[in-house]
Amino acid sequence: MDILVFDTADEVAAAVAGRIVDAVAARPDVVLGLPTGRTPIATYRALRRLHHAGHVNFARVTTFNLDEFAGITPGHPGSFRTFMDRHLFSEVNLAPGRIHFLDGAAPDLDAECVRYETAVDAAGGIGLQLLGIGSNGHIGFNEPGTELVTRTHRVHLAASTRRDNAALFGGDIANVPAEALSMGMGTILGAGTIVLIATGERKAQCVGSAVQGPLTTQLPASFLQLHRHVELYLDRPAASRL
Ligand code: PGA
Repeated sequence: MDILVFDTADEVAAAVAGRIVDAVAARPDVVLGLPTGRTPIATYRALRRLHHAGHVNFARVTTFNLDEFAGITPGHPGSFRTFMDRHLFSEVNLAPGRIHFLDGAAPDLDAECVRYETAVDAAGGIGLQLLGIGSNGHIGFNEPGTELVTRTHRVHLAASTRRDNAALFGGDIANVPAEALSMGMGTILGAGTIVLIATGERKAQCVGSAVQGPLTTQLPASFLQLHRHVELYLDRPAASRL
């Protein structure tokens, strides 16, 4: 793994945004895998600025988001699709037809997962996968447990994850869907390059274990050790247990 440590979270965001700009410049039709969560917000802000300043053209870029809540429509204010529209999609020149999302309101959720895997394959796989990491070590919605599912699948969300996402649902954990759809660790590990962002002391423990600990389904991020091209972008607090 390449581990890059920066003084501040803003410097992390600037560096990751620059990394994405470079990836698009090298390959204008790159396929990006994108995360939601608090961590990438600053990166998306930096990317918007770089786009407005004319430094990056997303016209031929394809995106696949990692995950989505089940049982809510894409237009729901708490959906990850709404999050992405607000923080990135509405302000850059991605072609709407090249933006791919899991539909949590699909009538057959298992078929929706198969559709998504097929779409990733048809796009030639993910070129650069951007990731956050949950404070419990989850990646996408691949939660710690006794087993991991390889491909895109339905997930029962951990209480801690529902709590972490309550802000999207009026601050009330009871409003956070109990289920979600997520790319599997196999889908994610199929990406050409993985860029993981972690900032803040809250992430130090899981970052340390993910990098230095054993492979375990109790820490899905530990499976990133199996990948040959992982870049970790960390601020000092997040790197403090390395
Ligand atoms: P966070 O979530 O960025 O809000 O901490 C990260 C994640 O759950 O992947």
